[in-house]
Amino acid sequence: AKTPMRVAVTGAAGQIGYALLFRIANGDMLGKDQPVILQLLEIPDEKAQKALKGVMMEIDDCAFPLLTEMTAHSDPLTAFKDVDVAVLVGARPRGPGMERKDLLEANAQIFTVQGKALDAVASRNVKVLVVGNPANTNAYIAMKSAPSLPAKNFTAMLRLDHNRALSQVAAKTGTAVKDIEKLTVWGNHSPTMYADYRFATVNGKAVKDLINDQEWNANTFLPTVGKRGAAIIEARGLSSAASAANAAIDHIHDWMLGTAGKWTTMGVPSDGSYGIPEGTVFGFPVTTDNGEYTIVQGLEIDAFSQERINLTLKELTEEREGVKHLLA
Ligand code: NAI
Repeated sequence: AKTPMRVAVTGAAGQIGYALLFRIANGDMLGKDQPVILQLLEIPDEKAQKALKGVMMEIDDCAFPLLTEMTAHSDPLTAFKDVDVAVLVGARPRGPGMERKDLLEANAQIFTVQGKALDAVASRNVKVLVVGNPANTNAYIAMKSAPSLPAKNFTAMLRLDHNRALSQVAAKTGTAVKDIEKLTVWGNHSPTMYADYRFATVNGKAVKDLINDQEWNANTFLPTVGKRGAAIIEARGLSSAASAANAAIDHIHDWMLGTAGKWTTMGVPSDGSYGIPEGTVFGFPVTTDNGEYTIVQGLEIDAFSQERINLTLKELTEEREGVKHLLA
């Protein structure tokens, strides 16, 4: 039998946590033959810890065969001890009257502390996925706060944007999601992201030719994918949770278990590819194999795409500038 893997989840009593933990324990993330240990972090607040206990009672009641152990934590130094995978969901939401700058700073604080804790106690090969917003910048901060861990192991979630784009392209072309390949989303997990189907194929045919409508691309597709989070809040009265949890499962699953040559999207620290400054956590097309991702190289960036990529990069650069003083 395989050795259990230790998985930390932060914000475990939140909305996404509630949609995520059961699927991890069920083997959807790491495989149906991989036992897991869940190490769950919530803020020390009494209500949050009590809610976490409640979620754990329900997980117990599922009697998941793959779940070998589960612990509750209020301190990242114990929650992250020896973890192989860390899914950082917990973040500070924007409160009434809170400026963007305040939000960035509040989260920078959280992800500095958590990056340092990972640095101190996690497995030396821990794979980190940041879901909590602003996800790219939070991942950047955690990475910078963990100098003894490989920088490439800090990633941000662009997979929900990727899956949203897949679903829109499938609907537009009247094809099945499973047949669409080579789609990607560049940049920041924010409405500035650039979902790009220029290279995509469906059953070997070019999606671009099937759609053949640049007006739809620029004025319907991109705004629909970019503002999907807001549309869900408007419809549901709550932000995306099950779809976000599903994307987190997909991200780690594909990272760990490989994509067999197929593309997906991950937010990863740039190695300078496509002119994105080194270290900037940016959505790129990747393939994965053997627990490692590789940025797809050599794609042509046309003028329209370059403009979109510049826009999302500019936003990320501004976010990075906004937290610079906290990293010094
Ligand atoms: P939620 O508010 O329901 O849950 C967040 C939980 O995190 C709360 O229980 C809170 O107590 C906890 N928390 C806050 N600070 C913490 C800390 N320092 N350590 C541990 N736990 C902490 O929020 P929800 O809906 O679960 O969303 C979580 C985050 O995910 C938000 O930042 C949201 O914006 C983001 N998100 C990101 C997406 C993406 O595609 N990257 C998609 C959807 C949501």
